[in-house]
Amino acid sequence: TWTMRSYADSAVEDIRRQVGTSRVICALSGGVDSSVAAALTHRAIGDQLTCIFVDNGLLRTGERDQVQKTFASQLHLDLRILDRTKPFLAALKNVTDPERKRKIIGRLFIKSFEAESKKLKNIKYLVQGTLYPDVIESVSFKGPSATIKTHHNVGGLPARMRLKLIEPLRELFKDEVRVLGKELGLPDEIIWRQPFPGPGLAIRILGSVTKERLMILRGAETIVDQEIRSAGLYREIWQAFAVLLPIRTVGVMGDQRTYEHVVAIRAVTSLDGMTADWAKIPNEVLGRMSNRIINEVKGVNRVVYDISSKPPSTIEWE
Ligand code: XMP
Repeated sequence: TWTMRSYADSAVEDIRRQVGTSRVICALSGGVDSSVAAALTHRAIGDQLTCIFVDNGLLRTGERDQVQKTFASQLHLDLRILDRTKPFLAALKNVTDPERKRKIIGRLFIKSFEAESKKLKNIKYLVQGTLYPDVIESVSFKGPSATIKTHHNVGGLPARMRLKLIEPLRELFKDEVRVLGKELGLPDEIIWRQPFPGPGLAIRILGSVTKERLMILRGAETIVDQEIRSAGLYREIWQAFAVLLPIRTVGVMGDQRTYEHVVAIRAVTSLDGMTADWAKIPNEVLGRMSNRIINEVKGVNRVVYDISSKPPSTIEWE
């Protein structure tokens, strides 16, 4: 019978046969797909695999630590974490246009990844977490999000670096990838992680990205995440996050007038991200998020909830 265990076993055999004694690299993001692809490849070839995680300074609280803990400490995988916060933030200085942000981040990502992989010898393959729906989409048509917003993952890399691709998940759907991840011993926190865009928090800070704004957004984002989880909504919601708006509004604290930032909460239900509905989160949960964000995150005095669906809105605000 067809089980995930036998799928894993035969995938491991295939990878070993394909790779031989060459070395393999992987751009690990900590998302479900790249994580499962990396864990599977690691099971097949151990230290012949090197994973590169680029910290672009646009990650959420704790994200990098979680990847370090899971892949380096627990799985003992050869993981190189590159701290590239400075060059990314410098390149994004005063940039407000969403597509320019994406281009800058995509280009710098490739540059960082390439520079690091040049240090490794005998690399012939790149592992990618391509799923079956990605395969279908790229041969038939591009959905709205693919054409309206340029998604920079590792698209141009293999050709540029003359690498062959290993795509061990290309016959699987998302739910099967989760079962496989479990089989490989990955923690639920990774297996059930909501999608997070490559350009990270840069496209959730409307206007220019600064350290201060990143700090505010991280504070708000952490609270949204905690409250969604503790209400038991994390898995049924496709994505829930905070967005920092480029305006200030008037508020009152004690007998003082305040003039501070606005945070928008965005939460949607969706099957594939192509269409989405705004999530009907219970009012008490929204109220708790709002209270906590305004009380705990310095610089915010107003919280609003986004009640638009996709289309015509998109999931991200940029
Ligand atoms: P939109 O905002 O287009 O988002 O409705 C659909 C899905 O794609 C994610 N997204 C991105 N992912 N790079 C990515 O890797 C991007 O530039 C990007 N823009 C949006 C978004 O989070 C949602 O899951």
